[in-house]
Amino acid sequence: MNNILTIDGPSGVGKGTVARVMAQKLGWSLLDSGAIYRTFALAVDARGINIGDEDALEDIAQTLDLTFKTEEDSELVSVFLDGKDVSKILRTEQTGEMASKIASIGVVRSALLKRQQDFAQNTPGLVADGRDMGTVVFFEAPFKVFLTASSKERAQRRLKQLQAQGTTGIISQILADVVARDERDSSRKNSPLKPAKDAFIIDTTELSIDEVIAQVSKLVKQ
Ligand code: DC
Repeated sequence: MNNILTIDGPSGVGKGTVARVMAQKLGWSLLDSGAIYRTFALAVDARGINIGDEDALEDIAQTLDLTFKTEEDSELVSVFLDGKDVSKILRTEQTGEMASKIASIGVVRSALLKRQQDFAQNTPGLVADGRDMGTVVFFEAPFKVFLTASSKERAQRRLKQLQAQGTTGIISQILADVVARDERDSSRKNSPLKPAKDAFIIDTTELSIDEVIAQVSKLVKQ
């Protein structure tokens, strides 16, 4: 498939927003791979599985009953696990932390690989965001972007996001969480967070969301 745009980067960098806007602009489908890891982590937690039990993890990954539903007239994507709307709990820091831990396990990543690749089927194009979209899952994608920003800026963006959702947090704690999660995601053996060799790297620290979108759009047009 020729029309794949991958957007990778660390937590809180704004990948989700850029991916959603780009998918709308291009009329392509959207894959939020972090939501798959987050939902998987919730399923493991709900079933009380020990994360050392690789057979059980593989079994859950293969049978995970996960659906995404885009609300009409809304930008929001709801996520359902076993038919239950888990969209709210999915976005908490606690779920992100569980997902990051579980995502470092090799059998989990390989069991979820095809599920992610299937998003590129039967669609005019796909925008996929995550940590290893350009390096592993869609390594042949023609358009690859890697977004970065200082950890301080990413913690600030995360705080704003929490406030927009009607909650809040302490900036020093958010910063510590962001740094710890990136360290784990970047230093793991399986598909670590890193730019693909052919990725276009954008430091977004000083950029507005519109400026980032403009740069990504230019890349795809070229
Ligand atoms: O993008 P996110 O914050 O929703 O992702 C949650 C965690 O899932 C992240 O800390 C690491 C893991 N993840 C991954 O390992 N690979 C991906 N492609 C996407 C997410």
